Amino acid sequence: MERASRVVTSAANPTSPLADTWVSVALTYHGLRALGVPQNCLDSFAWEFRQGMAARAKDLGDTGESSPENWERPLGTTDVHVVFVAVAPDKEKLDVVLDRARQAYQGMSGIEAIWRQDCHALPNEKEPFGFRDGISHPAIEGSGVPGTNPSERLFKVGEFVLGYTDEMGGVQRTEPELLGRNGTYVAFRKLHQRVAEFRRFLKANSTSSEDEELLAAKMMGRWRSGAPLALCPFHDDPELGADPRRNNDFLYEADDPAGFKTPGGSHIRRTNPRDASIAGLARIHRMIRRGTAYGSLLPEGVLEDDGADRGIMFAFVGAHPGRQFEFVQSQWINDGVFIGTGNDKDPIIGSPEVNFTVPRRPVRKRLQGLPQFVVTRGGEYCFMPGLRALRWLANLES
Ligand code: HEM
Repeated sequence: MERASRVVTSAANPTSPLADTWVSVALTYHGLRALGVPQNCLDSFAWEFRQGMAARAKDLGDTGESSPENWERPLGTTDVHVVFVAVAPDKEKLDVVLDRARQAYQGMSGIEAIWRQDCHALPNEKEPFGFRDGISHPAIEGSGVPGTNPSERLFKVGEFVLGYTDEMGGVQRTEPELLGRNGTYVAFRKLHQRVAEFRRFLKANSTSSEDEELLAAKMMGRWRSGAPLALCPFHDDPELGADPRRNNDFLYEADDPAGFKTPGGSHIRRTNPRDASIAGLARIHRMIRRGTAYGSLLPEGVLEDDGADRGIMFAFVGAHPGRQFEFVQSQWINDGVFIGTGNDKDPIIGSPEVNFTVPRRPVRKRLQGLPQFVVTRGGEYCFMPGLRALRWLANLES
């Protein structure tokens, strides 16, 4: 941990002194335990984190093909202790930063690299189904990073970082306090995407290629360019999709309460209902999230699966894994009660037996028994400590 603390860049630097490259380190519950963190300290961490992602499978909808028995080993086992993430703008710099990260553990007995996942950004920030991703993010008070939705108030730091006041007026603390302070929880998931299946589904349920694009947009809530249905409900507008000043500047309630533009069941309206009428309060379930592609792209127009593994590595970051990540995954993605559509689920990432409703005049369009387009291949709950906490962990034995 002492070595790790030397390769992690301080968040106090708004730009990385290492030429745009970054290394982060996070630990699982079993990792903290293996380091000898006393039980009373372990017990002060969030309950979901202590259980681990595999133990939470049923609540997360990781059943059937997505269930932990089918996960890629060692994900979901007690062998995963430490996760390193290295980020760089190109392959050359990535190799340099990976070498740097390796210095944290190479040559140490008892530590072995047991899994690695290479990821990359796709052109135009697209994810493997072909939609622009990474558009909508919450803005955090004092971070200096501007928000993407001008109508969304800034969030209290404690929503995302331990040791600070959150939206409910509480502070997530650990024992000792410095172990948690400036740290955060990270949930990462390897999500395999069935791109050919998704394309075939669009084709089978549409009458023309324009109709296919409209159905895809209704399922996502945005056209593939990123342009939101809320602002252009009838046709794509790639210029709008690429414009960060406009592509997230919308709400739902005043303009589209019934979802005629953006269906209440679409991926983006489910995962962030904004001001729409729902059972509950949307604001306390926001998250920082990143998806980075892995595997090769399925060439445009191909409708047969080529057997390649492709998808995204999804990362959630927040101080409340329960009311943020798990709540969204179980109540908003895999249930429809909060929007009054019974057992409808997220049409893009819901687990099997998904139904999806597109509000329309004179009659709604109802799609039943959608195939499963996304399969969980594994994941872990981790805690990403601040630098002082890393040094505390380093000095545990003494
Ligand atoms: C393979 C899996 C997934 C794909 C392909 C996917 C794709 C997308 C895309 C294209 C967007 C629109 C771009 C944007 O608004 O930034 C989006 C937004 C979002 N997704 Fe996903 N996503 C996936 C999994 C997940 C999961 C597992 C969660 C949460 C548990 C999630 C939560 C969100 C949230 C919160 C937003 C922003 C909604 C908004 O603020 O309007 N996504 N996703």
